[in-house]
Amino acid sequence: MSEPKPAAVTPVSQDELKALVGRAALQYVVAGEIVGVGSGSTVNKFIEALASMRDQILGAVSSSVASTQRLQALGIHVFDCNEVERLAVYIDGADEIDPQGHMIKGGGAALTREKIVAAQSAKFVCIADESKLVPTLGKFPVPVEVIPMAVQRLVRQFAVIGGSARLRMREGTPLVTDNGQNILDVAGLQIKDPRSFESEVSQWPGVVTVGVFAFQKAQVCLLATPAGVRTMIF
Ligand code: 5RP
Repeated sequence: MSEPKPAAVTPVSQDELKALVGRAALQYVVAGEIVGVGSGSTVNKFIEALASMRDQILGAVSSSVASTQRLQALGIHVFDCNEVERLAVYIDGADEIDPQGHMIKGGGAALTREKIVAAQSAKFVCIADESKLVPTLGKFPVPVEVIPMAVQRLVRQFAVIGGSARLRMREGTPLVTDNGQNILDVAGLQIKDPRSFESEVSQWPGVVTVGVFAFQKAQVCLLATPAGVRTMIF
């Protein structure tokens, strides 16, 4: 008798994984409250899902112009961050996440506002697919929002600690963030101590925000896998 064949695994696209985890994040949205909303393609799926709760929430605080536009297009009121003292929950994606919940963020250049909204929130729920989980942060080049006049100084300063920093470009010119600044993407770093890395780089003159989220780390991470959503609590 021949061996039974293993069940065929249906391929699941990245887009489906993002939609799956975007919907799963709805369970953390508190009815009657304002929700913090991040940026990126995974968050875009969360925003789509959030439309189903539009009438149960007061609105959102958003971390980027792009997310604000998406929320408003779905009829969700967007509050200015200064109008809100405390948020129960902030939902956002990540470029990398380590087993303690520290993250690299800023692939979408929204890291400064993301860190501000995260700091204002009681709980950070990170949504991602399982490829973003890494043992040590640093394979993904660390985005750093910088003041334009400090770009070359900071490129040299990153080289001293073994980082290779490149100015992020868009359509042939340096990318300008929602805050009017530039982004350096720093490759070649292995970030074994995210808190001390974040503390040190944040103090360099010209750095607006470093895309390592150690002080504003995730408390919960929802990781999409082809077998379903895995929850990690930190
Ligand atoms: C934007 C971010 C995003 O959360 C991060 O880049 C992940 O994006 P995506 O969900 O598209 O992979 O930090 O600044």
